[in-house]
Amino acid sequence: MVFDYVDGGSGAEITMNANRAAFDEVTFRPRMGEPPASISLNITVLGQELRSPLLFAPCGLMGTIHPDAESGTVRVAEAKGTIAAISSYSSKSLEHIAAASSATKWFQLYFLGGRAGAMSLVERAEACGYGAIVLTLDTNVPASRERDTRNRVIFPLALNLTSIKRFGPMSLARPLWLWRFLRAGMPFHVANVIEARTLSEVDTHASIFNSPPGWNDVEWIRQRFSGKVVVKGILTGEDARRAVEVGADAIIVSNHGGRQLDGAPATLRALPEVVEAVGGRVEVYMDGGIRRGSDIAKAMALGARAVFIGRPYLYGLALAGDTGVVAVHDMLTAQLTETMHLLGCDDVRKLDSSWLW
Ligand SMILES: Cc1cc2nc3c(=O)[nH]c(=O)nc-3n(C[C@H](O)[C@H](O)[C@H](O)COP(=O)(O)O)c2cc1C
Repeated sequence: MVFDYVDGGSGAEITMNANRAAFDEVTFRPRMGEPPASISLNITVLGQELRSPLLFAPCGLMGTIHPDAESGTVRVAEAKGTIAAISSYSSKSLEHIAAASSATKWFQLYFLGGRAGAMSLVERAEACGYGAIVLTLDTNVPASRERDTRNRVIFPLALNLTSIKRFGPMSLARPLWLWRFLRAGMPFHVANVIEARTLSEVDTHASIFNSPPGWNDVEWIRQRFSGKVVVKGILTGEDARRAVEVGADAIIVSNHGGRQLDGAPATLRALPEVVEAVGGRVEVYMDGGIRRGSDIAKAMALGARAVFIGRPYLYGLALAGDTGVVAVHDMLTAQLTETMHLLGCDDVRKLDSSWLW
């Protein structure tokens, strides 16, 4: 059931699959005769120099996957010179995760417990030094993830007789996972809202759906947070312009990895419209469907300044904790380096549409 939670999307998974398929339809225009001696993957994101254009997307409840979870991911991000964004639904508190690495971290904001709850999260993120708030706008109602329905799982989950009966057999078939999960204290709750451990408590203290954020909230966060504000979940030029108007510093073109509106466009297809609409006024990143290094080059050639991955690093985490996340990051960046050599382009910052057919 944890695998399905990570691997699955909403509805018929059309958007999730379209994200991946869109990359296959983009063809490079390689140049010969000037083979690069070396490749630079360095980029600047919101004024910060990174050694890799591959960032880690915010993913909820990572403690159900492996105990290294978010803390492991921020450690890897620091080691690799990149950034991890931490979900409001993190399995340890945002303070606990902040202490795991001194490098820049971003905090993804859901309105857990409405505006008052969001206010307190923003203050806490400010107090422990998160560099940006990533406001996710595509999650105003819970989307039906049919694999979760089939597994009869609702996150977060209370440990009681029903859940033991329901998940006991499948957990016993995964003894290593079960052992790690029990040892980690069964992190199924919403750690950022300590009171919320059961479903009804989550409804009372931590529902993100009672007052989902809108454009005016971007301005509201701006006034309360001294770092940067990034808006996640944008798919159209109209919304991109709106995000710029209300003062966002950056936009993530995202459809939540095909986990919210099924039928939303593949992010790679939506990216050029967003890039054109903002006209360089704010930075544009993208996520969704990146599974190879060449995908990163294609997204950057279509105007993304950086990209995020979600599921790929969660798969690495599931296999081997921190080490698995490192392996996934290194595999994708090694593939990107190879792509750059074969393209004849020595610097990811030079990628633009002239490198595409
Ligand atoms: C298991 C899982 C949990 C996620 N939880 C969140 C979340 O809490 N907040 C959020 O903004 N996005 C969340 N996302 C979406 C990711 O941030 C990202 O947009 C998406 O995974 C990118 O697509 P990819 O998985 O194809 O790389 C989640 C994705 C997955 C797979």
